[in-house]
Amino acid sequence: MCKKQLADWGIDYFDLYIVHFPISLKYVDPKDRYPPGFTYDGKNVVPGKASIQETWTAMESLVGKKLAKSIGISNFNGQLIMDLLRYAKIVPATLQVEHHPYLTQEGLVKLAQDHGMAVTAYSSFGPQSFLELDMQRAKDTPLLFDNQTVKSIADKHKKTPAQVLLRWATQRNIAVIPKSNNQNRLAQNLDVTSFDLDADELKEISALNKNLRFNDPLNVSNFISPKIEYGCRSC
Ligand SMILES: NC(=O)c1ccc[n+]([C@@H]2O[C@H](COP(=O)([O-])OP(=O)(O)OC[C@H]3O[C@@H](n4cnc5c(N)ncnc54)[C@H](OP(=O)(O)O)[C@@H]3O)[C@@H](O)[C@H]2O)c1
Repeated sequence: MCKKQLADWGIDYFDLYIVHFPISLKYVDPKDRYPPGFTYDGKNVVPGKASIQETWTAMESLVGKKLAKSIGISNFNGQLIMDLLRYAKIVPATLQVEHHPYLTQEGLVKLAQDHGMAVTAYSSFGPQSFLELDMQRAKDTPLLFDNQTVKSIADKHKKTPAQVLLRWATQRNIAVIPKSNNQNRLAQNLDVTSFDLDADELKEISALNKNLRFNDPLNVSNFISPKIEYGCRSC
């Protein structure tokens, strides 16, 4: 699959190749559907049989074959990382996780950074990107762009709330990867290192934490968990 993706991009190697979720999904032959997305049949999410150890060992082999320079993980919690570090020959270069003021994940960030992993935040704006997915939890959550703490800090620095949210993350040594379809907002999202938040402002924003996660696959109603065949990975 890695070779197919490289061919699609017309390149010889990936700078960084990451495991999207610590959940194995049943293989979909590219002849049947490509890219497959999360579902097996276009409707249901069906678990596969590979353990994370098998997956990580396969990822390491891509580095050996020079198909990927660096390999990383995404959506792993601390316990899974601790386990992976027991057998990993290559420590993940990066950990990409949901991270915003409603989900600050201090412990996880520290664990990853202490082991030399660069932490990358996705969904830096909290509920915003999940509104496009029509997620009820996002609709029920006040926008961080409208939050009074974020807004008043933004006003003080003459920046937008989005820029403050991105700067708050980068000042915690977390990389950000915001996406936008709007040219002005793309430019705005790049201009986020020309100012610094002070320690109190960083603390005030971090205090908005409510351990609120939007991207949780186990909350997806089309996840077929009873089909996992326990202890039967080879058959
Ligand atoms: N590893 C994972 O499981 C995972 C999960 C989710 C996302 N990701 C990755 O993370 C990256 C970011 O995606 P995301 O889904 O997290 O989206 P995001 O960047 O957090 O948010 C995108 C939303 O914010 C809006 N926006 C962007 N810049 C803005 C600004 N300056 N002011 C106001 N609104 C702004 C966009 O609207 P406009 O387009 O109208 O500006 C869009 O509605 C993507 O590369 C994605 O693939 C990874």
